[in-house]
Amino acid sequence: MANSRSAMISSFFFFKVILLLLTISDSFVQIRGLGVGINYGQIANNLPSPSRVAVLINSLNVSRVKLYDADPNVLAAFSNSNVEFVIGLGSEYLQNMTDPFKAQAWIQQRVQPYISQTKITSITVGNEVFNSNDTQLMQNLLPAMKTVYGALVNLGLNQQVTVTSAHSFNILGNSFPPSSGSFRQDLVQYIQPLLNFHAEIKSPFLINAYPFFAYMYSPNEIPLNYVLFQPNSGMIDPNTNLHYDNMLYAQIDAVYAAIKQLGHTDIEVRISETGWPSKGDPDEIGASPENANLYNGNLLKRIEQKQGTPAKPSVPVDIYVFALFNENLKPDPASERNYGLYYPDGSPVYNLGLQGYLPDMVIESKSNALSVGFIVYVVSWLICSWEISRL
Ligand SMILES: *[C@@H]1O[C@H](CO)[C@@H](O)[C@H](O)[C@H]1NC(C)=O
Ligand SMILES: *[C@@H]1O[C@H](CO)[C@@H](O)[C@H](O)[C@H]1NC(C)=O
Ligand SMILES: *[C@@H]1O[C@H](CO)[C@@H](O)[C@H](O)[C@H]1NC(C)=O
Repeated sequence: MANSRSAMISSFFFFKVILLLLTISDSFVQIRGLGVGINYGQIANNLPSPSRVAVLINSLNVSRVKLYDADPNVLAAFSNSNVEFVIGLGSEYLQNMTDPFKAQAWIQQRVQPYISQTKITSITVGNEVFNSNDTQLMQNLLPAMKTVYGALVNLGLNQQVTVTSAHSFNILGNSFPPSSGSFRQDLVQYIQPLLNFHAEIKSPFLINAYPFFAYMYSPNEIPLNYVLFQPNSGMIDPNTNLHYDNMLYAQIDAVYAAIKQLGHTDIEVRISETGWPSKGDPDEIGASPENANLYNGNLLKRIEQKQGTPAKPSVPVDIYVFALFNENLKPDPASERNYGLYYPDGSPVYNLGLQGYLPDMVIESKSNALSVGFIVYVVSWLICSWEISRL
């Protein structure tokens, strides 16, 4: 057993070496950057300016960023970059977004002015709506998504921009084993028509998934190595015989199973948030820089390998890590303020091995740089003509 395993590992290593050689011979592969996306949350009063953040993101080779709003300063700071944005329409807008005129006005004001310069690929309508106890909000979700989509169609933007929503993993009533995943019974009335809409417009279903919480609540039952993507014996789904060596993939497949139970095999599941806090309250077991480093570091390696889950091996997991910065204004518990890969000053919270660079300042925009150049030109022209007139 141990021998065949090490033989497998060494042949895998050989395969990796060949892959590496192929990669080096094709220098364009690198340009695609890290496959992972990152959440850029801004519930803080000490974050660097968006234009400095643009330099940081670029130095990290991250090419996909998710916002919780449609902050015009961020969208403008990333103009002419290769970064693709998921922008957010907060839950507080849902009521208004069921009105076609207001939805269209929002797109015209918040998306249209930026989209020729900044790649906006998706709008999340509401965040974790089914985790609220607000049935009015739940009822408004699908109409709001349909109305926003209709506005994109009217404006000719629906090919560029998809419409979706981000959900808490808690919308599952059952998630174990993964093949038995199902949605909470009380939510099926909302989720069934929502899935039909996703299938119709071919947009992905987004889940915020945190194996950290499962571990924190049951540290004696759940092996830490299983949630941190460390070597461990894993578990076998008795219905499918599929082997799971980490909890995140089991969670993703549980969502696929829940969707299938409602009749859909045509919707892709993506992870809109996952991460691990580097610090927490004393009762938040597992929150530490070491664990956060292992969770995010191991996850990045798997994304680099374009791994799929056991139930969907050919679909590479699609993930937005939470989050770029620690956010000091988030409410308790303490872990909430400590999910960042970076402190607001640009120093890494732990060593993930990414060499990010946050500049002290940047020239705010090309047009400013141009106008400085123009002033220098005019002044030197004036000096020059003054000298000529003295001759
Ligand atoms: C980003 O890509 C460049 C060019 O391939 C590489 O030199 C650099 O190390 C990468 N940076 C990170 C943080 O991965
Ligand atoms: C919803 O629309 C009303 C009327 O136009 C406006 O006063 C209100 O501020 C809007 N709500 C939000 C959250 O934008
Ligand atoms: C929803 O209601 C339940 C039971 O009343 C409560 O325990 C939970 O904290 C509430 N959740 C939110 C987000 O308000």
